[in-house]
Amino acid sequence: MVIPGPVRKEAEALRREIEEHNRRYYLLDQPSIPDAEYDRLFRRLQEIETGFPELALPDSPTLRVGAPPLAQFAAVAHRVPMLSLNNAFSAGEARAFDERVRKALQVDQVEYAVEPKFDGLAISLTYRDGVFVQGATRGDGGTGEDVTPNLRTVRSIPLRLPEAVGGAALEVRGEVLMFRRDFDALNGRQRASGEKEFMNPRNAAAGGLRQLDSRITSRRLLRFFAYAVAEPDLSAKTHSEMLDRLKGMGFPVAGERETVSGIEGLLGYFAKIGVLRAKLPYAIDGVVYKVNRLDWQQQLGFVSRAPRFAIAHKFPAEEEFTEVIGIDVQVGRTGAITPVARLKPVFVGGVTVTNATLHNEDELRRKDVRAGDTVIVRRAGDVIPEVVSVVMEKRPPQSVSFSMPVQCPVCGSAITKSPDEVVARCSGGLFCAAQRKQALLHFASRRALDIEGLGEKLVDQLVDGNLVRTPADLYALGLAQLSGLDRMAEKSAENILAALDRSRNTTLQRVIYALGIRNVGESTARDLAAHFGSLDRLMEAGLDALERVPDVGPVVAKSIRQFFDEPHNLQVIKGLRDAGLVWGEGEGRREANSRVSRIFVLTGTLPTLTRDEAHAMIEARGGKVSGSVSKKTDYVLAGDDAGVKLDKAKSLGVKVIDEGEFLRLMEGSE
Ligand code: IVH
Repeated sequence: MVIPGPVRKEAEALRREIEEHNRRYYLLDQPSIPDAEYDRLFRRLQEIETGFPELALPDSPTLRVGAPPLAQFAAVAHRVPMLSLNNAFSAGEARAFDERVRKALQVDQVEYAVEPKFDGLAISLTYRDGVFVQGATRGDGGTGEDVTPNLRTVRSIPLRLPEAVGGAALEVRGEVLMFRRDFDALNGRQRASGEKEFMNPRNAAAGGLRQLDSRITSRRLLRFFAYAVAEPDLSAKTHSEMLDRLKGMGFPVAGERETVSGIEGLLGYFAKIGVLRAKLPYAIDGVVYKVNRLDWQQQLGFVSRAPRFAIAHKFPAEEEFTEVIGIDVQVGRTGAITPVARLKPVFVGGVTVTNATLHNEDELRRKDVRAGDTVIVRRAGDVIPEVVSVVMEKRPPQSVSFSMPVQCPVCGSAITKSPDEVVARCSGGLFCAAQRKQALLHFASRRALDIEGLGEKLVDQLVDGNLVRTPADLYALGLAQLSGLDRMAEKSAENILAALDRSRNTTLQRVIYALGIRNVGESTARDLAAHFGSLDRLMEAGLDALERVPDVGPVVAKSIRQFFDEPHNLQVIKGLRDAGLVWGEGEGRREANSRVSRIFVLTGTLPTLTRDEAHAMIEARGGKVSGSVSKKTDYVLAGDDAGVKLDKAKSLGVKVIDEGEFLRLMEGSE
């Protein structure tokens, strides 16, 4: 068929325009046209290609929505094998890696390219004369599967490169994965249509990539990040230079990649990414260290199936299998009844876990967790461990589903559930010892009155022994009472009394938060303190006045009013005042004794963090960054070439910290 010149030109222009919009959307995160306009361009190109099939070239963006299903995947032999990485599970193992590298190269210091270890699937992309022609899975490393139509649907994989690099062929390697937000949306759709949910983004991505029908892959919204070139070496001298080249060609590369020096640099990067991890849009399971110089990489070579020049430093696994020994319920501070799975101890997310929350009755029913089940437990960061799902194949034959108790297991009061809530509650109020204990623990917690040493075991003894009923009673405790308790040496008793004494001098925000008013978290407490400036004014405020505070709606206002209408609570507040508690009235905002909500000044160049990153980490924890050093400054974070700010800090006696201390401080305060 003869194709008219103008049509050929229009198709060509549309292809280019659509791919440019894809690039802006998926690579730069800066879309520049409305979705509807994009759809119009896309449909026009589809129309032309239907009329003139010869114009449907292998780099056409219309292939991004998928092609007719395949009968099976063809095998692809990898010209360069796809190897795996050796793992380091501790700082010691990372240190040993650096030592091996230095010894083999006979040098004192090595520069490393460091990057996140994506938790997805390794793939290889082949370009011929600048056009994407074949994509394959890793398979066994020697032979993989041809998943080209599926990979064409991955919007961030360029279908055509701006230049035909590497002569005839270029093979880029990297990872296919799913962003967490796309994963959540996908599972939302699965739930809505009554279909099975995916376990994690990795499984969802793997399932998506191995669809014979690439139209299904297209809907999974997979992403790609490049981390290596199999051939040729793109005439780069270092790994980081090579990634820069790939980036220039339109391949997404990790924004968090860096180059660092020596083992200190490696461990600093590990700590930093550990902190940033939760904020990344995708899952990672560690970081990868690579000797940066490519000639040194070659010199180091490979041992069996892994390179000697690189290693993956893994985070502790966040998901593990274990067994449910039994299920019981916990009573929270506001009486909320939470079903909890008692587990055979399992090491997950860096700690040994023996309990995992099942959230509420609806969740428990949905997951249908039973005693005797084998389950997947997840603990990510500081998040409370939870049961992700049951391994149904391993369910013992006679298992029975759990029924929620109708009476509080602690105080015997009725458990009630209002129709508009998912949570069931013990109706015992502060008559219930469990609620009293939780209220005390909350009062003493770090962001409340920060009473160090007043932990669960001690609170149990204080409540069970009738020594303490309300927070105010804590301040009447004496040395004799405390040191008479189980496993309480005189020294620890003294420490607790000292901590209690310190907590007498606090802030209005902390007191409001510590009272444990339902629906009043730390940030609402901050707003209330700033708005009313004194506890008395807050206590007198009516619903209207309360709702004038930003972010306080009718529900929160009602909880606050109910709290202060309860004579028992007024008694507690009076008790606290009588016990000598003072809080700065009228100032509200300044945090006197928090370890996190402090004022930082940044100066000089830090070894691995940029200023923006440090700034974001501080603010994420409620701290502030100020431009100049004064007596109010809590920390000066100083890097190389720190100037007058450092001198000023020294002259004022302000604490100066380096990046290492800073990261530890941030880690300890998540
Ligand atoms: S480099 C010679 N860099 O980890 C090996 N791999 O255990 C080249 N992975 O199969 C791999 N992120 O799927 C490299 N930044 C990264 C990576 C990465 C994830 C995966 C990759 C590989 C596995 C090795």
